[in-house]
Amino acid sequence: MKKNVYITRQIPEAGVDLLKEKYRVEIFPENRPISRDLLLKEIRDCDALVCLLSDNIDEEILASSKKLKIVANFAVGYNNIDIAAAKKYGIMVTNTPGVLTNATAEMAFALLIVLTRKILEADRFTRSGRFSGWDPLLLLGDELKGKNLGIIGMGRIGQEMALKCRAFGMNIIYHNRKPVDQETEKRLSASYASLDKLIQQSDAISIHTPLNDETYHLVNEQTFEQMKPGIYLVNTSRGEVIDEKALVHALKAGKIKGAGLDVYEFEPEISHELMGMSNVVLLPHIGSATKETRSRMSEMVAKNVIAALEGNVPHNLIP
Ligand code: GLV
Repeated sequence: MKKNVYITRQIPEAGVDLLKEKYRVEIFPENRPISRDLLLKEIRDCDALVCLLSDNIDEEILASSKKLKIVANFAVGYNNIDIAAAKKYGIMVTNTPGVLTNATAEMAFALLIVLTRKILEADRFTRSGRFSGWDPLLLLGDELKGKNLGIIGMGRIGQEMALKCRAFGMNIIYHNRKPVDQETEKRLSASYASLDKLIQQSDAISIHTPLNDETYHLVNEQTFEQMKPGIYLVNTSRGEVIDEKALVHALKAGKIKGAGLDVYEFEPEISHELMGMSNVVLLPHIGSATKETRSRMSEMVAKNVIAALEGNVPHNLIP
């Protein structure tokens, strides 16, 4: 009898086709997150679950599975899955590292330059009919060249962001749980700093750390107090790394000149105050949203599922 794979939302075809060659594949048909009740029901009968970062795969869900072998997350971050519970029930968990590095770093860089050169404000200005001719003082931004970029989290995406910003002449300082090797530091022209130093010295900060107990509200009221006035903040990792209330406060106080956010503390909810600010760019969590990347992610989850269901160790197994 064919094994059952359940996918909680439509994903690009590449991986679905691979899975359909071997298994009975069912996909939640609607263009919205699956309800918890339905997920609890579906998981009972499936051998593999492909889920999204917005699906909360907690112990209750995992405990109700009868024969589940693998939860394959369609994301690199896996804070939505209770890894300890998965281990307890002998269920493998995989993610999609590597394939979204460039797309996400491109988006972080885009947010940075959109903020510093006021591109969205300028577009709104022009469309509103206010462009009445060249003006020496109109919409003056800040140049990236020669400025200090602080990268919090120097994994794959942080490193790619460093490379992109180096190309624009920025000085890179970074903080990570431990420093990267010297060769990598040299290649990126990046220097390690304590979190406090990084916060105090940066003209712009980009966050690339995973969400865990140590990084929850890593950027908070005290952090904002230590920052140079008028810095830019970009977050393409997870919303909960920033205390959103404190961010609103810092923006209102003019401490932060602009924030570029792809993720939110209470996603998909976004604070009304952020919504009303013209120096804040708000994206709907699309850091990895390119055709190339999403297709590779789809293939990657399929290969992880196939490995697990064929009795092998998936390439992207979370230890
Ligand atoms: C996106 O946020 C991901 O973790 O893949």
